[in-house]
Amino acid sequence: MADEGLKELYIEELKDLYSAENQLVKVLPKMAKAATSEDLRAGFEEHLEQTKGHVQRLESIFEQLGESPKGKKCKGMEGLIEEGSEAIEEHEGAVRDAAIIGAAQRVEHYEMAGYGTVIAFAEELGESKHVSLLNETLEEEKETDEKLTGLAADINAQANQGEEAGEEDTAPPAKKKSRNAA
Ligand SMILES: [Fe+2]
Repeated sequence: MADEGLKELYIEELKDLYSAENQLVKVLPKMAKAATSEDLRAGFEEHLEQTKGHVQRLESIFEQLGESPKGKKCKGMEGLIEEGSEAIEEHEGAVRDAAIIGAAQRVEHYEMAGYGTVIAFAEELGESKHVSLLNETLEEEKETDEKLTGLAADINAQANQGEEAGEEDTAPPAKKKSRNAA
């Protein structure tokens, strides 16, 4: 049956998202701690609570499906988190905040793509309850992305000013560790 093939793929993609969301639950407190802007920190704390809700929505979908949510590691999210951690290590002050926002927006877009895919699968499979649950999460990811864009406006300006104004309080770019060419 053709539907069985898509259903398996649907479950696999949901497991991938479940892994991605759980990785985020672990890393968002670190991102909040690393942020120097109060608004950015508060934003990450708020998104942590939302993300816990995203995990719960996925759990309720798995319950309805009678499947386990476990068994897959989202490598894409693993890579995005690794890059985000590098950004935190390599920068400080407003520049670090700007870098964290960049990393966080990559995460949001990655999740938006993933949810878009499973929503289309759920629609095809006639899982209308799932569609509405997944859409709620997708909307929250979009809102978070927009909030980050809003925060970036001020933070990027600050990051740019810092470079022009005081070189005493911001460490000069001596921290350039040996990085690979990429
Ligand atoms: Fe999420």
